[in-house]
Formats: sequence, structure tokens, C-alpha cells
Amino acid sequence: MLAQKLKGKIHYVGVNDRKIHRFEGMWPVPYGVSYNSYLIVDESVTLIDTVDVAYGEVFLQKIRSLIGDRPIDYLVVNHMEPDHSGSIRLLAQLYPGLVIVGNKQTFGMLEGYYGLRDEQRYEVKDGDFLSTGHHKLRFTLTPMVHWPETMMTFDETEGVLFAGDAFGCFGALNGGVVDEGMNLDIYWDEMVRYYSNIVGKYGNPVQKALGKLAGAPVRMICSTHGPVWTGERIARVVGLYDRMSRYDTDEGVVIAYASMYGHTEQVAEQIAAHLNAAGVKNVAMHCLNKTNASFVLRDVFRYRGLIVGGPTYSGQLYPEVEGLLSKLSVRELKNHVIGCFGSFTWAGAAVKRTIAWGETLKQNEFLPQTVELKQGCLADTDEACRQLARAMAERIRTAKS
Ligand code: FEO
Repeated sequence: MLAQKLKGKIHYVGVNDRKIHRFEGMWPVPYGVSYNSYLIVDESVTLIDTVDVAYGEVFLQKIRSLIGDRPIDYLVVNHMEPDHSGSIRLLAQLYPGLVIVGNKQTFGMLEGYYGLRDEQRYEVKDGDFLSTGHHKLRFTLTPMVHWPETMMTFDETEGVLFAGDAFGCFGALNGGVVDEGMNLDIYWDEMVRYYSNIVGKYGNPVQKALGKLAGAPVRMICSTHGPVWTGERIARVVGLYDRMSRYDTDEGVVIAYASMYGHTEQVAEQIAAHLNAAGVKNVAMHCLNKTNASFVLRDVFRYRGLIVGGPTYSGQLYPEVEGLLSKLSVRELKNHVIGCFGSFTWAGAAVKRTIAWGETLKQNEFLPQTVELKQGCLADTDEACRQLARAMAERIRTAKS
């Protein structure tokens, strides 16, 4: 249960959750997730964010291994989502002199979630400041990254950015905490998946936050999830967030489909083969009967092209595909080229519905070439697949991202 020293008087006191199946009850986390919290043991003791209350006991053990019976003076609340705010009530009970540092939005949520209204507060505005002794903390409000109260705390003494969820990723921490001593292979993919699943809708607020942070001499990024970033990884992490929040993508196509008896799947396979023949190297196939939409969203934030396909089911689009369309709409996609295919047995609805959905995506290009299968594949099906694939290959090369 050891806390780990990071820099200056800053220590890592976060925890790993390896039992969780779905983050936010929705997103699979095969590698688990970490809830990161940081303790500055200075003239004043300052805690930055807390952890899911299920890990409150382990969390307290880590804190006490550093400060014993000494009280915590300040709790900085960068984000109120309960994976980080969950232990606040516990701390407020244990440390009655605790001053909670947050912004106006933070305190409304503290009362709503935890009934905390009488605690001592330091309500900060953009650019406000707190000295803990050696460390000097500056607060930057970053609303809607990805909740309205989100803010970041920059330690000007050591160049450490406490970023909240920003620059975070899925994946529990396997022994190490700081990037340079860890095998990072899983975290890069998991960062794209985290961004697309959790933050994806809020590209503009992320851009505004990056603008506010530009020029700050950041030497370490302490997110609330995943490794602590240092060295040349800082530019990579910030660059990833910058690209994803601009919906800037690589040349490639995601094919996301569902199929009941394999006929719709044959169309997906034929389109994929024609894309490859047209020179598209990056083709990411996702069968929604098996694969959670979480992984599709990850690849949609990577590649410019998206082709969605599914059967007609009870006069509507197959529900697994409909669910994906809903998740895509929530993320307010931009700069994508989108196509569709579908199938039916007696009355077609899948293609019609997907076209209607495509018409709502104003900042994307929806291809007029579609493939609609009645029952099984016929001689002209392959030609329709070829036309859709060729149009997609051409447009992802010329579409401005
Ligand atoms: Fe990790 Fe938005 O909470």
C-alpha cells in the first residue's frame, strides 16, 4: 500500500480497479482502470482529487503512510465525477478542518451528490492561486472537459499539471506510476478509446483548454487515469488530444456491421476487399454482434472513413447497429466520410434509416453509393460494393480533415 514519490513534495496516492467490468457502466475495461490522486506534503498538506469510494480504505492507508496523524489542509477538486469525488464525504468527516478548493460549479455538485454545504471553501476563479509552502498552485477553469465544473491545477514550482481526466487513459497501473519506468504498449490505444468514449463530444472545449495551457512550462502531467506523463511523452499525449479534439484523422476506413445469418457480413467482407484493392491499407472491421461499440468509437476517431451496415429487424434497423448510430451522434462527429449498406427479407428499413441518420451529420460527407441486399447476395451485389468502396477510397484521400 505504498504511496509513491513523484516530484518535489508530490506523491501518488491513487488506486487501481481491476475488478470493474464497465466504466461508467457502459465501456469495457479489459485492463482495468486507475483512479489517480496526488498528495502534496508541504507546509500545508494538499490532496488533489480523491478516488472511487469503494477504494476509500486503501486510499486512506496510502495517505496516512505519508502524513500519519497530521491533517489534510486542502482538498483540490478538479472534477466531480464520482470516480474522483467519491471519497470526499469520507475525508470531510475525518478531517473537519479541511478546506475544499473548487469553483462555483464544483460546490453546487458537492451539495447535490454528498450533501456537503457547511465545509470550509476556497472558491476559485480562472487564474486564482494557492501557496502550500514550497509549491505554488494556479487554477485554470476548463469547463466541459468533459463536465461543466472541470478545472486543472498547475504547480508552478515543479511544472506539474494536475489535469483531471484530460490526457488520461483506461488501464490500471502495473507496478509503476511514471511513464519512463513502465511498458506503455497498452496505454496508447487505451488513450484513444478513453478520449473517444468519454470526452469525444467535447472537441471545442478541449481545444479551448489546450489554448489556455499553451506556453505553460509543463514537465509532468498527472491525469486522474493512467500513467504520469513526463519527457517526450508529454508532447505525444498533448498532440494526440489536439488531433482528436479537432477530429483530425488518418487515411483509413472503419466498417462496423451486424449480421444475423452471414449475408450482411458477406457485403461487409466484399466492401473491405474492394477498399484494399483500391489501395486503402487501414481497414478496421468490427462485427457488432461480438464487439462493443467502445472499440468502434476508438477507430472512428482514428480513421476518416466509416461504413455502417446492418439487417432490417422488425421493420427497423437492427438494434445493435442503431445503438452504434446513437453513440456516434452523441459524439458530434466531424470531418468524416460515411457510407452505408444493409439488408432485408421482405421490406427494407436498414438502409433507409441509416441514410436518414447520415443526413443529420451536417459536418460530415455522406456517400450516395449504398448497397442494399434483398435476402442473399446476387450477381450485382459485388458491383455495388465495389462502387461504394471506390467512392470511399477516393473521398478519404481528398476530404479535408
Ligand atoms: Fe474519470 Fe470524468 O471521471
